[in-house]
Amino acid sequence: MALLIKNGEIVNADGRLKADILVEKDTITRIGQGLEAPPGAEVINARGKYVFPGFIDPHVHIYLPFMGTYAKDTYKTASKAAVVGGTTTLIEMCCPAKADPVLKSYQLWLDKAEGNSACDFTFHMGVSRTDKKAEAELREIVASGISSFKVFLAYKGAFGVSDEELYNVMKLAKELGVIVTAHCENAELVAQMQAKLIAEGKTAPKWHYHSRPPMVEAEGVHHLATFAAMHGTHVYTVHTSCKESVTAALRARERGVNLWIETLIQYLTLDMTDAEKGGFDRASKFVMSPPLRYKCNQEFLWHGLRQGFINTLATDHAPFDVKKQKQMGRDDFTKIPNGIPSLEDRMTVFWTKGVCEGRIDLHRFVACASTETAKVFGLFPRKGTVSVGADADLVIWDPKYRGKIRQKKQHMNVDYNPFEGWDIKGRPSVVTVRGQVVARDGVFVGKLGHGQLVKREPNHF
Ligand code: URP
Ligand code: ZN
Ligand code: ZN
Repeated sequence: MALLIKNGEIVNADGRLKADILVEKDTITRIGQGLEAPPGAEVINARGKYVFPGFIDPHVHIYLPFMGTYAKDTYKTASKAAVVGGTTTLIEMCCPAKADPVLKSYQLWLDKAEGNSACDFTFHMGVSRTDKKAEAELREIVASGISSFKVFLAYKGAFGVSDEELYNVMKLAKELGVIVTAHCENAELVAQMQAKLIAEGKTAPKWHYHSRPPMVEAEGVHHLATFAAMHGTHVYTVHTSCKESVTAALRARERGVNLWIETLIQYLTLDMTDAEKGGFDRASKFVMSPPLRYKCNQEFLWHGLRQGFINTLATDHAPFDVKKQKQMGRDDFTKIPNGIPSLEDRMTVFWTKGVCEGRIDLHRFVACASTETAKVFGLFPRKGTVSVGADADLVIWDPKYRGKIRQKKQHMNVDYNPFEGWDIKGRPSVVTVRGQVVARDGVFVGKLGHGQLVKREPNHF
């Protein structure tokens, strides 16, 4: 069935206009004034609302075996949360452990998504080994439509790669034209600092920050950039949290490294004191890596998004229940499963704290959360723009909505919300994924299984 969206204000990263949008099947087929509805079309009146391209979250964990447990969501819960919050495409981190077979792992992650997702999806392929067999399988995965890798410089003994492996990943990625996304923290320094703090009896959640200070992250960024420079590989720093690491990334750019920077909604709006206040149950909710930082970093990160030297906004959604899972680290902060859920609330919080409080304009709002992400990861112009020929992934945004974030109402399968009780100004009113209405005013109305794997060509030669 066709869909006609009338009277809205279309906002793209590079412009805006008041016009109607005709959607036929999966695709936007016309944009213009006074468009007539074809017979049988559903008509949505978007007067007083914005129409944005569907938002893309480039850093999500759904299936994640990690720190002795599993992240709580499945596609059945996470993809509902995504679309209700305006995210129409997500990029999940496929994170095999070192010993896991590469191709089988990719298939495992893919099987969990296919047939179960309400939104479109793709993967960054985690690389934790680079032996001959692994390399051959990585080539196969890239040929099948996955054009980005993920490496962890942190998590020694788990996902972390050695320098030799990092060198090999960079070489392979350059040859294949894929971008390498990276968790940048010096694994050895983290391990040493954790051991030191625990030996001193510093076991509470607040010590997590001190085991991974900004310079440990900045060293990771510098390390990544140095290895990238050896082959001219394009790289992307995930969850960049502070001035020190962003500055290290900018210095690398000045030296000629092709590097893109992601930050998270958590780092823009939460800070290290959240992991200090209250008892264990409260503080452990806010343990993630890199840790939440001193508040003064927030305006620096907003400035980076506004000015464009920080490219993308993600969530690093990684949900672990407080009642059981976070308790694993009650006597030792190094055992608290790392992660803060935010897939559902990224865009409403970004809007409320960003656009409503004058930190970014409407176009950067779209650019950071959709268009630039689509460009970096080979999804553009199929995704990331409201244009004729693009997928009809649309978010009709109601700027007049007023409400509060409540864990009890959320679709994410986790027993807390880091933004509990926050006031929200504006939210998605209607969300479409390739022409199908999947959410209306906070309610999921789509079909699990409608979401598809989006194949991506290498675009970083
Ligand atoms: O604390 C985090 N970020 N948890 C998820 C795993 C990762 O490092 O991205
Ligand atoms: Zn990470
Ligand atoms: Zn992550």
